[in-house]
Parts: sequence; structure tokens; C-alpha cells
Amino acid sequence: MNDMKTLAKERIAQSSPSYPNMRMRRLRATPATRSMVRETHLHLEKLIYPFFIVEGTNKKTPISSMPGIFQQSIDSMLQEIDQAANAGITSILLFGIPDKKDSEASGAWKRDGIVNKAIREIKQRFPEMVVIADTCLCEYMDHGHCGIVADGRVLNDPSLQILARSAVAQAEAGADVIAPSDMMDGRIAAIRNALDEAGFEHTPIMAYSAKFASALYSPFREAAESAPQFGDRMSYQMDPANGREALREIELDIQEGADIIMIKPALPYLDIISKARDMTKLPIAAYNVSGEYSMVKAAAANGWIDERKVVLESLTGIVRAGADLIITYHARDVARWLKG
Ligand code: PBG
Ligand code: ZN
Repeated sequence: MNDMKTLAKERIAQSSPSYPNMRMRRLRATPATRSMVRETHLHLEKLIYPFFIVEGTNKKTPISSMPGIFQQSIDSMLQEIDQAANAGITSILLFGIPDKKDSEASGAWKRDGIVNKAIREIKQRFPEMVVIADTCLCEYMDHGHCGIVADGRVLNDPSLQILARSAVAQAEAGADVIAPSDMMDGRIAAIRNALDEAGFEHTPIMAYSAKFASALYSPFREAAESAPQFGDRMSYQMDPANGREALREIELDIQEGADIIMIKPALPYLDIISKARDMTKLPIAAYNVSGEYSMVKAAAANGWIDERKVVLESLTGIVRAGADLIITYHARDVARWLKG
């Protein structure tokens, strides 16, 4: 009888989850046990690599604030896509820098606009590559804003038509995914309708849903030559202080027909990614933006951090928070590290 009691007591003690019966270090003892219980993995096919395309040939201009990233002409870009594809990159995101900017963003929607030309050539040479077209007007407008401007204000509804027109032109060129980054209200529905009417009902939309007015975009604006010529983007991009509002933006984009929702930037907004994960079953993308990239590159160049470890840790954190896809300028380096 006594024996039975002791045995039962021991059993209970063993199942009680605290020290010394429970020791968290048991499963951390060797690389094999650690990888056995690892919860989060980085896969190359979840990374999206951005390109900045300019007119001309044989151009490859470094962007000073983004070491390793260039403004390049289509021929140079095709070479880099070839290398990226061989390294295991399966999807890319395209931004265009037109020779001439104007007040109607014609470079965004003309058939021979820089991104549309690039898409045709990429799809011809690399049909398997997932080509995502960023849909916005700031790179193509002389004033650098993401919509039509009148009397110093960014107009919402008139901008929808021109955004939709750009999206259709990108789909006609062969884009696999349309990614609107402008933050006008109602753009997802407008673009969805226009795509459907033009016969592109199968082309998915990856919506920049929760895009914050972040100071971390400034290296990108050097790359895309898209800094606003007056004012800022606070009247259309989100206040970094607002989490609930981000969830409303995501809800609205889902209602309007988004296939993938995006949160941008990534690292300072992991709480939004995590909450979005609980809210929707749609794929979630996170944009690890230019400033996030530049900070890591600068610290690494100074020898202050181990670049490879910091990048892999950061991207793993973004996946752990709930992102399915990550847009990142580190993608090519990661491809090298994961293979090596
Ligand atoms: C333009 C656009 C921006 C980024 C992606 N699309 C900049 C902006 O809104 O000013 C930022 C990307 C990055 O910083 O890497 N609509
Ligand atoms: Zn824009």
C-alpha cells in the first residue's frame, strides 16, 4: 500500500512541469536535438527579391545607402535574375524608374513603360520566375506622391482609375502578381474590377495593406528616386502608432478582394504581423524594408555585428511572428548562406 502511494506520488512529481523534474536544457544539448524541436524554418521560396529598373543598356548603378543593390537596365537585371534563379530565388518584385516623370504617371501605365518592358523580357527568358509588379505612381509622378495631386493635396478617387490602368498594363505585360503600394482607399476593389474586366481574373493581388508612414523608407527613395517633392505621405500611409487601425486596413483589403495581405515595414511591426495571423487565413507577406536592410549593412561593414547571423535571426523572427512571405533585399545573400 505504501509502495503504491510512493509510486503515484513519484508519477505526479514527474509530470509536474517544473524544475528539477522539468529541465528545458535537455532538448538543447546537441545540434541534432535542437533541430529536431526547431519550430520555424526559412525557405528560399518564401523570399521575394526586389529590383530597381532603369532605361538604357549596360547600366548598373550602386545605391549608396543600400550596398549590394543597384539601379539597373533590363539587360543587367536579366543577368542578375539568372544568377538569383540559380541560387534558388523563385520570386522577384519590380520597381521602375522612368527617364521622364510627369503629372499623370504615364510611365506606369504605358505599354512600353520601363516595368512593363522588363516584365515581358523576364517572362520570356524565365517563365518560371514569379514576377510581382509593384503598382504605384510615386516613381512616375513629377511630384513624387503616390496619387494624383491637385492644389497641394493627394486626391483619392481620381487616383484609383490610373492605378487600375497601371495594374492592367502590368498584367498585360505578363506580371504574375499585382502589388498595389499606394494606400488610396478603395484601390483593391478598383484594381480587382479592372483586372477582371480585362480578362485577368486569375491574376492575384498582393495588397500593401498595413503600410506605415515609416522613416525606414528613405534608402528606397534614393533607389527609386521617388521622394515626395513637397510635404510627406502621412495623409495616406498609416501612423506608426496605430495597431487597431492596421487590422481595419487589412480587413478592408480582404473584403475588397486581396489574395495576399502585406505589412510594411517588418521588424518594428511584428505585433501587427502576429495579430494579422490570428485574424486571417490569407497568406501574409512582410516587407523587410530598405532602412532595415541599410542598418544591418552599415553595422556589418563596421564589424559591429555578424551579418549572416543577424539577418537569419531577423528573418526567422518575422516568420515566427506569422509571415508566410518576406520581401527582402537580403534574399540573395540568404540564398548563398542557406546553400553553403
Ligand atoms: C512606393 C513604395 C515605397 C516602398 C515600396 N513602395 C516607398 C514609399 O512609400 O515612400 C518602400 C520600400 C522600402 O523602403 O524598401 N509606394
Ligand atoms: Zn508610391
